[in-house]
Amino acid sequence: MERIFGRPIVTQEEMRTRIRELGKQITTDYTGKDFVLVGVLKGAYAFYADLARAIRIPMRVDFLMVTSDRSRANTSGKVRMVTELTEDIKSKDVLLVEDIVDSGLTAQYLVKTLAKRKPRSIKVCTLLSKPDRRIIDVTIDYVGFKIPNKYVVGYGLDYQQKYRNLPYLAVLDMEGDEG
Ligand code: IMP
Ligand code: MG
Repeated sequence: MERIFGRPIVTQEEMRTRIRELGKQITTDYTGKDFVLVGVLKGAYAFYADLARAIRIPMRVDFLMVTSDRSRANTSGKVRMVTELTEDIKSKDVLLVEDIVDSGLTAQYLVKTLAKRKPRSIKVCTLLSKPDRRIIDVTIDYVGFKIPNKYVVGYGLDYQQKYRNLPYLAVLDMEGDEG
């Protein structure tokens, strides 16, 4: 299957504009703080790179990787951290950067897990949110775009580990795609 996605639902231009706004807001909110920006791999890599460069204060960068062993229809998979932070986040102001908050399971797991390390604060920034799919009431502090309940790929987001490098965000076309 060559092309299983359609036109952008968020264009590169819309993405740029919104990320600039988020960067400004985060810059204001974290000025003077001991700030660590933590990217949740793999999905957040593209958003993270753009967001980090839109933030105009000194900060540490760090990453962790999660898997959730789930298919796209099934959100009940257990979340697990597969790589660790390199920074000690104790007493620091941590902002987690996610690609998308869907059920809320991943965000809740990460906030709970990292809170045990006693950061001064921990907040969540996500590029995308699907409020209709939420099963856990987790606080998301910064949201790029709210999107409808559709499976999207591109700009870091995958379908079966592919399409992350698509430079915009597109809805996955289910037609003829049962593999
Ligand atoms: P949650 O734990 O259910 O909130 O799901 C978060 C994770 O599910 C994301 O980090 C993605 O890896 C994946 N996910 C949820 N919806 C989509 C989508 O539309 N496209 C690609 N990945 C998705
Ligand atoms: Mg994924």
